[in-house]
Amino acid sequence: MTNRTRDLSFADDFIFAKLIEDVVDYDVEDAVVINIGPSPMLTGDKHPAVVPAWKSTWLKGGRIKSAGRAAIVKVTNPVNLGGCMFRGWEWLGNRIKSFPRDTPLFISSQDEIGTLTTDPYVFTNERSTPLAPQTFTLKLNLWWAPGDTDCFIHNDHRFLETHTQIHGRGRMQKFEHRDASTIYEDVLMPIGYSHDPFCRVTQKNEWTYPWHRYYADTDSVWLAIELHP
Ligand SMILES: [Fe+2]
Repeated sequence: MTNRTRDLSFADDFIFAKLIEDVVDYDVEDAVVINIGPSPMLTGDKHPAVVPAWKSTWLKGGRIKSAGRAAIVKVTNPVNLGGCMFRGWEWLGNRIKSFPRDTPLFISSQDEIGTLTTDPYVFTNERSTPLAPQTFTLKLNLWWAPGDTDCFIHNDHRFLETHTQIHGRGRMQKFEHRDASTIYEDVLMPIGYSHDPFCRVTQKNEWTYPWHRYYADTDSVWLAIELHP
């Protein structure tokens, strides 16, 4: 059966969020569409185009022509969106003892989507042909932070990650050290944009990340895409 849809766990009165699988000719009125899979997604009707693996676009009356799995996300009500902590989103400081006590970064529930097979070196763009495919569990969640929030410089993840901007404007930034003054790359994140993965594979189920952070320029919602070995 094609076009199987369900709400993602973080969908609520403020945020439209759906998973759609085995997609064929699915029209999208106005939302960010994320290709949450290792194969290309096709969009368009008369003039089809490719959205590469783990990338995204903003469709406005457009069509997903074909995709394995896609997430469709839009903030439908920005009024009091920042009250997400009263709707079950958690302050990250509750989970991480060393997280700065004054940083307003909040995480939604996480939705476990299922498994997929990919070569981690292909995910990180370190090679183009899959030579060592392995199975990962795909998990999605949203983040929220108000404008001018430094979402903490870190370099440790037990998963492969990338992010998509859903609402507002932010940046993914890289640093030489855990020190904002040592920035060496600034990736601007407008709505609908997914940054390229930051990590490099070092060995089986091991990868390194540069010191990095998300910085919210305005009130922002962004999607985390995590591949867990
Ligand atoms: Fe990260």
